[in-house]
Amino acid sequence: MVEFVRDDLKDLKPYKAHNIPHKIKLDANESPYDLPDEIRQQLAKELMEGCRFNRYPDSDATALRQAISRYCGVSPDEVMVGAGSDELIRIIISAFVGKGDAVLSPAPSFTMYGIFTRIAGGMLVEVPLDDNFDYDMSGFYKAIEQHKPKLIFICSPNNPTGNVIDKYELIKLVTAFNGIVVVDEAYGEFLGESVASWMVNYPNAAVLKTFSKAFGLAGLRVGYLIGNRELVEEIYAVKPPYNLNSFSQRAAQLVLENVDIFSSRIAAIVDERERLYEKLRAIKGIDVFPSKANFLLIKVPDGEMVYKKLIGEGILVRNFPDEPRLKNCLRVTIGTKQENEAFLQTLRRILEG
Ligand SMILES: Cc1ncc(COP(=O)(O)O)c(C=O)c1O
Repeated sequence: MVEFVRDDLKDLKPYKAHNIPHKIKLDANESPYDLPDEIRQQLAKELMEGCRFNRYPDSDATALRQAISRYCGVSPDEVMVGAGSDELIRIIISAFVGKGDAVLSPAPSFTMYGIFTRIAGGMLVEVPLDDNFDYDMSGFYKAIEQHKPKLIFICSPNNPTGNVIDKYELIKLVTAFNGIVVVDEAYGEFLGESVASWMVNYPNAAVLKTFSKAFGLAGLRVGYLIGNRELVEEIYAVKPPYNLNSFSQRAAQLVLENVDIFSSRIAAIVDERERLYEKLRAIKGIDVFPSKANFLLIKVPDGEMVYKKLIGEGILVRNFPDEPRLKNCLRVTIGTKQENEAFLQTLRRILEG
């Protein structure tokens, strides 16, 4: 029934989540660690005592929002939760972007900003990162002048490049811009810093965070937004009711009650990132970009060949066939030490052979 699809969406390409057979999965920036036993046991116990899945979840996720507010040092009414930060990106765009409105994002960056902007009828304007993939703020100011956007996405650490925006440049932008700035900190735990408690002081800024990466809950889809009270209230108006299921709400709450377990997991991933960075740098013919996230972007002489050969060896990484600036680049998620070693050895073998 393609004739009924909106004309402006007929050539929209769906986001492709690859389903390629593999032994080692380093393509989606997930955590290599499953939910800790303590949390699984607690969840199992609660399920057996009665789970009330016949009832709708708490639409306001009151207990989880309280736990998040304690963890982030903000107030519960400065927090909103969603089914992954993906849903919150969509919710924010639907609150602020209408037909023909411009949205700015860095480029290259996370593709969902563009997809949801198009679905809303808006227009994504990409502001190129510089040659080292650092933020070029003058590009943002020029694009603001030219396109008068409603909304700006800043991804920091940026996916897929791993670079971070300077905090003071960010505040300058928020202060100067007559519109909404959303800082996507999906990988913020691997940087070890957040601008969330600063951003609540600005009426036009919000921060997006997720349980999918550092906390290993990608399969349960839990994300959250932090922003000033009035802004959160405005965004609430477009939030679907019951958007986060009760099981995910409870699991995320238990994660925050056991945050120490995750702190040591995050530290292990950061150590592995730095170790892998040095090892990759030592391989002739590879460029590695410094990263503050749980992945590294590398540039190899023949990206497609390496990507396919890695798949042939059961190792999945991310390639970017549609992004000219990322030609020959591959994004590798930091896995366990064993996974990273297997990747390194296989990569060396592919490049030598
Ligand atoms: C920058 C960025 N933002 C948001 C997301 C979405 O995460 P989720 O919907 O799992 O919270 C991702 C996932 O890869 C991401 O890389």
